[in-house]
Amino acid sequence: MKGVILAGGLGTRLHPLTKVTNKHLLPVFDRPMIYYPIQTLVNVGIDDILIVTGGNSAGDFLRLLGNGKEFGLKHINYTFQEGEGGIAEALGLAEFFANGEPICVILGDNIIEGNIRKPLEAFRLQKSGARILLKEVEDPQRFGVPELKGDRVVRIDEKPGNPKSSYAVTGIYFYDATVFEFIHGLKPSDRGEMEITDVNNAYINKGEMAYDILQGWWTDAGTFTSLLGANRLVARTGANKMEL
Ligand code: DAU
Repeated sequence: MKGVILAGGLGTRLHPLTKVTNKHLLPVFDRPMIYYPIQTLVNVGIDDILIVTGGNSAGDFLRLLGNGKEFGLKHINYTFQEGEGGIAEALGLAEFFANGEPICVILGDNIIEGNIRKPLEAFRLQKSGARILLKEVEDPQRFGVPELKGDRVVRIDEKPGNPKSSYAVTGIYFYDATVFEFIHGLKPSDRGEMEITDVNNAYINKGEMAYDILQGWWTDAGTFTSLLGANRLVARTGANKMEL
């Protein structure tokens, strides 16, 4: 399976830290943020990786990562998102790379304690559709929030004022090739972005969405509070453990 890391956007919630550099190059404890999603993919054997970057200092990804030797990779693919049109727009840039194959997508500011081996195996058995990873959180209104009925997700609300569950949709997604058809049909949301939640709701409406609950801690790192929290978690317990 191929892997796509979305590391575009302008990271304006972290100004002035992101005024002259890209959010995903900021440190989280002892390494740059982008190292963690790369390791998450590499740990489950995904070694054909595209990084979608954008905004400031895009060239610094090359200087930092090169061909990914530090991760045991032979090559990394890069592409550039102009502006900040949203997560689904950034993912749309991966269409040529995916070339009709299923993909694992991870947001560049998502860090996990454990690994994604079980959901990856489950998605392989699934053959088609999509799979998302959920995690119980204290502040669901900050995220995409699923409404669950039995073992099904019936819809996802993006940053709802009145969350329908205490789960966040994490930024780790498995998609079959139809994801790009859904993206082509998207319209920008009220905040002017192409929303990944609209893509996920399209799969739900087709009855093609499965989910798992992620084991171990999960965090994003896109606000001052979550960036500080991510530093603390990584310093205390370490990230990307395979045995979890
Ligand atoms: O972290 C999980 C959450 O990520 C989900 O629960 C939400 O449903 C999803 O919309 C997203 O919410 P955020 O508000 O946290 O997304 P943010 O704008 O911070 O973008 C997250 C990453 O996506 C960012 O680190 C890089 C990538 N991105 C984002 C935008 C807006 C891009 O590559 N291009 C973009 O234009």
